[in-house]
Amino acid sequence: MWGGRDDAESIKTIQHAVDMGIKLIDTAPVYGFGHSEEIVGKALADGRRRDKAVLATKVALEWVDGKVYRNSTPERIREEIEDSLRRLRTDRVDLYQVHWPDPLVRSDDTAETLLELQREGKILALGVSNYSPEQMDAWRRVAPLHSTQPPYNIFERDIETEVLPYALQHKLLVLSYGAICRGLLSGKMRPNRKFDGDDLRLKDPKLRFAQYLNAADRLGQHAWENHGKSLLAFAIRWILDRGETMTALWGARNAGQLDAVEQAFGWKLSSDDYAEVDRILRETIKNPVGPEFMAPPPREPVAV
Ligand SMILES: NC(=O)c1ccc[n+]([C@@H]2O[C@H](COP(=O)([O-])OP(=O)(O)OC[C@H]3O[C@@H](n4cnc5c(N)ncnc54)[C@H](OP(=O)(O)O)[C@@H]3O)[C@@H](O)[C@H]2O)c1
Repeated sequence: MWGGRDDAESIKTIQHAVDMGIKLIDTAPVYGFGHSEEIVGKALADGRRRDKAVLATKVALEWVDGKVYRNSTPERIREEIEDSLRRLRTDRVDLYQVHWPDPLVRSDDTAETLLELQREGKILALGVSNYSPEQMDAWRRVAPLHSTQPPYNIFERDIETEVLPYALQHKLLVLSYGAICRGLLSGKMRPNRKFDGDDLRLKDPKLRFAQYLNAADRLGQHAWENHGKSLLAFAIRWILDRGETMTALWGARNAGQLDAVEQAFGWKLSSDDYAEVDRILRETIKNPVGPEFMAPPPREPVAV
């Protein structure tokens, strides 16, 4: 669902990432409807890389005739963990995350099922994704919670009001997704860029708006003039410097795209940088849009 794929290239990218010291690999059953997990499994099985990686996957989305729905029933979770372990070629998932909250299932049942899986040794740590503080509070009354995975990048900052303060207060690992806003903060995006096939970005309103590209140009200029760094490295640092438990998930299509990692370490953003980012956004983004277009719907409630 990212505009075509080249399995050999994907495997090389993951192996290169682990070889260069990137430890956290995040995937999900729904990505490519099982295919992404298979690729990650193959990549890590080769050269004992599994032992070097922290392997994170997700649970509780189902797909029916190509459409995706939320489903966090205990039955669905039990089925999915076995499929994920098989596809990932491992006997334990290091971080198991509920992909989206399911309004049709009691949160306690979902949390309890993950706790059981942890006791059985099938998963090590428990996480959630796209959860509100209230939903995380409800979870934590039943089971431990180690991480949260919200959308977060310079252009998508809704979590700053509630989710981020909550996560930092409770020392949850934050896996910020879309860290470079699906390529918009890579410094390489141009107005004439076309997206093909099943690329999710065809549906992303941001990528059609010149104001976001203008903002990215100005941010890139700031990063270069003040730090001699690329926009991509600046965008990653902007996330990491928010707190001790911050991480940035960054999707790379080929090994070359990982060359930019090096530039993101060994320096920090100042409070002036954060203020300047806010100023640039105020001056350039007149109609902000969020990442809501990615949210899958709940299942149809079943009449009883
Ligand atoms: N929990 C959730 O609901 C959720 C939702 C979305 C994503 N995620 C997670 O977050 C991860 C990352 O998010 P994402 O892949 O959506 O977006 P992203 O990391 O913001 O953007 C990835 C895209 O950026 C471009 N890119 C990466 N490195 C580049 C470089 N060095 N130079 C130029 N372009 C570069 C590539 O675009 P091209 O393909 O155009 O080269 C790549 O496909 C996902 O893999 C997934 O694990 C989770």
